[in-house]
Amino acid sequence: MDIIKLDRDAKNMLKEAGNRIRTSFSSELSIESKADANDLVTNIDKEIEQFFISQINAAYPSHLILGEEGFGNQLEHLEGIVWMLDPIDGTMNFIHQKRNFAISLGIYKDGEGILGYIYDVVLDELYSAHKGHGAFLNDERIPFLEETSIQEAIIGMNASWVVPNDHIENDGLIQLVRDVRGIRSYGSAALELAYVATGRIDAYMSLRLSPWDVAGGMVIASEVGAVATNLRGEPLKMLGTDTFFVARGGLHPQILTNYIKIK
Ligand code: IPD
Ligand code: CA
Ligand code: CA
Repeated sequence: MDIIKLDRDAKNMLKEAGNRIRTSFSSELSIESKADANDLVTNIDKEIEQFFISQINAAYPSHLILGEEGFGNQLEHLEGIVWMLDPIDGTMNFIHQKRNFAISLGIYKDGEGILGYIYDVVLDELYSAHKGHGAFLNDERIPFLEETSIQEAIIGMNASWVVPNDHIENDGLIQLVRDVRGIRSYGSAALELAYVATGRIDAYMSLRLSPWDVAGGMVIASEVGAVATNLRGEPLKMLGTDTFFVARGGLHPQILTNYIKIK
């Protein structure tokens, strides 16, 4: 397999998809709800996924595609080359803000991430990584992450988990909020992973994510030494939903051991 060509083709698709999304800003969106009233999808999410699928099928007919909007393949295994795509991660931000969203794409071989991309379309910032060859923000190499302390850390998490809930012990999260320097919530799992990789935040957690949210970001994060697991510290299932936790190397076990208890 020519991975250099695969990387170049994926980047060209991302740039063209970005052009299409920016062009869409001047037209009216068609917005629908999916699982609940705040789980939104637009005609652009669907059109961008279909654009990738037609390009991938034309260039790489043997590859499989796992896309959030369901136009790709229904996968029961991860054998072969699988493109894991979220055409717009942060759809609520896309609709309300026209910023703070990204295209998220991971290319996996037999279940292992080999190429990862997060494209912040509005800022024209492409985060990318080729496993074993480092991570980049546009053409600049992203430096390897150094360790930091809990007291100096900024954590990406949803504030709603700090109130009593059925999923995670909130006492531990209250203590985490007290102990760290700050809490942030950007509304795009992919961008939050990109921010961990670039050291803008030090950890990010979620109680429910899908493979397409994190597939690209996990390749990027791991190239700079961040550790990603579910919130029980187990390897992520890349074929279904799971909890998610990514942090700088040293912070990862500290936070999991001292602050996180899944119910
Ligand atoms: C969502 C965003 C959000 C996260 C949700 C995701 P979508 O993706 O990443 O930040 O909290 O769990 O589903 O629906 O905008 O692609
Ligand atoms: Ca998503
Ligand atoms: Ca999406």
